[in-house]
Parts: sequence; C-alpha cells; structure tokens
Amino acid sequence: MTSENHSFRELSQMATNLIPSEIIRLGNEINKLIKEGHEIFNMTIGDFDPSEFPIPTKLRNAIINSYNLGHTNYPPAHGMLELRQSISEYILKFQNLEYSTEQILVSGGSRPLIYAAYKTIVDPGEKVIYPIPSWNNNHYCHLSEACPIEISTLPEQFFMPSVVEIQPQLKNAVMVALCSPQNPTGTMFSKDSLYSICKAILLENEQRKGTRKPIYILYDQIYSQLCYDSNIHVDPVTLFPELSDYVIFIDGMSKSFAATGVRVGWAFGPESVLNKMRAILSHIGAWAPKAEQVATAEFLKDIPEVENYLKKFKGEVHERLIGLFDGLKKLADDGFPVDVIKPQGAIYLTVKFPWKNYRKPNGDIFTSQSQITEFLLKECHWAIVPFKAFGDDGESEWYRISVGTIRKNKIGEMLEFLKLGMKKLVK
Ligand SMILES: Cc1ncc(COP(=O)(O)O)c(C=O)c1O
Repeated sequence: MTSENHSFRELSQMATNLIPSEIIRLGNEINKLIKEGHEIFNMTIGDFDPSEFPIPTKLRNAIINSYNLGHTNYPPAHGMLELRQSISEYILKFQNLEYSTEQILVSGGSRPLIYAAYKTIVDPGEKVIYPIPSWNNNHYCHLSEACPIEISTLPEQFFMPSVVEIQPQLKNAVMVALCSPQNPTGTMFSKDSLYSICKAILLENEQRKGTRKPIYILYDQIYSQLCYDSNIHVDPVTLFPELSDYVIFIDGMSKSFAATGVRVGWAFGPESVLNKMRAILSHIGAWAPKAEQVATAEFLKDIPEVENYLKKFKGEVHERLIGLFDGLKKLADDGFPVDVIKPQGAIYLTVKFPWKNYRKPNGDIFTSQSQITEFLLKECHWAIVPFKAFGDDGESEWYRISVGTIRKNKIGEMLEFLKLGMKKLVK
C-alpha cells in the first residue's frame, strides 16, 4: 500500500517520512552476496559475535538461574530495586558520581531511554543540537518531531564537536545530544573540550533561569568502559556538579559487556525528568525482562568479576582495533589511497577511502560514495558503513568499521584483500 496514488496520506506523516536505515539496506546487499558464495568481511553492525565475545559467565548463569527461579512476571516500571541499587554502586565506583535509586531508570536496552528523553524534554518544533556524524539522533529527532541543528565535525578534531560550533547555536536549542566514546567514530571528548561545551551551556542556562526551558544535555556514555591508551572518559557532571539538574546519562549492558541481546539499559539524572521518562516508557512497556534484571543486579554488584571481565574484553576489542589500524596505516604509508584515525574508545575505527579521482579497472571514474562502497564490497570483500548512515551528506568518503564480529586471525587476510582491491585502482 503506497500513498503516492492518493491525494491524502494513509499513514501518519511521521511514519510516511521515516528515513530507512542505510545499515539495513547495506545488510540486504551483503546477505545477497554471501548467498551467491562470496566471502565478505562484515564489519557493518555495532554488535558482537557471541562466539568471539561471550557475555560474562556469571551473568549468563545468573540469567538461567533467574528463569529457573520463576522470575517471569512484570518487573516494576522503573526497574527492580536490587538492580537500581547495583547500578547506583556501579556509577559510584566507576564514575565517582552519587545517584540514588530514585534517580535511575532501567529499560529494555538503552534505545527506549533515548527516545523517552527526547519525548520528555523536546516539544515538536523545538531544536536539538547534535554532531554529524552521530548515531541515530536524526531518527530520534524525526520520531519526536524535533528540529535538528546538525553540527558538522572535522577529521582534524577526530569528528568530535567543539564549543566553537555549538556555542552559536545554543540560544535556539532545548537539548544537546552528545556521545563519548562516540559511535560511529571511535573517538572521544578530551576533558578541555567537554569543559568548554558544558561551560557555555551553564552560562546559557543561567541567563534563561525562570524565563525559558533550560538546555538539557543527553549524554550517551554507553561505551564509557571501552577507552584505550591514555584516553579517559569524562562527563559533564563530574566537570560541573551544578549541571546535574540538566544532564541525562544513557548507559547500559549492551556494549560494555557484549550483552546487546540481554536488553538491560539504564538512564540516570534529575528525578523529575526520570519520573516522566518512566511514565512514557511504562505506557510503551519497554521494560527489561525481569530475569535479566535480577541477574544483572547480581553481576554488577560483584565488582572484582566486573573488573576481570572488562580487562579481558577491552584487551580483545583493542587488539582488533589496533591490528586493523596498524595495517591500514601501513597501507597509507606505502602510498595506497586510505586514511585512518587512531581509535580512542568504543568498538569502532574511522577510515577514509579517498577514491573520487581514481578509476576502476574498467576505466570508469568513481563519482559517488556509493560506488566506493560497492567496490569495497565486491572487489575488496569489505562491508563497512559510510558516514552517510550517520547523517553525513552522502558524499563523505569516511566510513565506520565495527570490530565486534571480527576474528583476530582474519585481520591479515582482510588487509590483503583490501590491498589487492586497491592495486586495481588507477589514478
Ligand atoms: C551510542 C549508542 N547509544 C545507544 C545504543 C543502543 O544500545 P541498546 O542496544 O542498549 O539499545 C547504541 C547501539 O548501537 C549506540 O551505539
């Protein structure tokens, strides 16, 4: 059923105009090639292969045990108290922030919480600032009928937004959506950079006091346990405790514990905001399953177990990121048309294939990003996601590589296939 044949719309304007997911489109193409017998290195999804990255054993056993104990009825709307207690202790231990159980909201993964934060803060037509590239803010703006203010970021700034671009837009906005370590770039805020942004927001809120809705910060730190080398996770409330009334943190089990299918996420922030988010989500019914909540509460309480898991898990993710980074850097040093940014956090690597002045073996010049994506897929066996999927204009030659499904012993072969493909390009 399409609406094009009619002068009226058969579905809501919002649903009719939903932007299809670029990653799903690419996924369909990849599956087709795999079915035809091609070997494809699929680095498109921000997920983990459970045979490479299993969830913590203690968590898995606790989930099974919870079902055996019959934890199969509705959990409380804002999450089980034991879990919120464990999360409160976890936040204190790893971020040195004090949040009570009443300031924490649990949900079925962190996505519903992001949606609920948008719906709680932003009225239709109000403005939300976020960087490009970034993960799904364009979709959340669409769902909540918010007006996006997209901030373009630069490779020289590791694709992180800075106060220079954000500050001039603050007057118009009600929310700034930030993420660190960032999906899709695998880069993160330095303390100085986040400090300047937060200071500007604080000043704007002081001017607004009592006259207008303040600016809120949606701070997505779902990758905060995955920081590498000397990169340290920073957050707005540690830098400015007086911002705590305006910051909604997003976090959860999905990425830090390879538990994307377990579906336990949490938000923490001002109680008044969290209460409204809870009310919205209770109508949607986006609770995390009760057995998973009981198990997560048990697991997160066991700090030595959490630390042991993180140490090994982080090491494994970083090894893959660095293996690919070193290999790509060597190709660049050897004169191949590729550029790469050193990974700082998360499970992603940012890479550029600046091929627009190159010719394919048939003599055709690359004229668009989609042709580069296709050549990578068909000639190099590389499936990766163009920044277009993260809100970029569609012609950027930058891509996201996700390492959650990569086998370490395949990295050499993957780089070899890429090199063979690039050898076919003619300047
Ligand atoms: C930055 C960021 N936030 C939130 C999520 C969603 O996490 P969940 O699977 O817990 O809904 C993702 C998933 O890719 C993400 O990359």
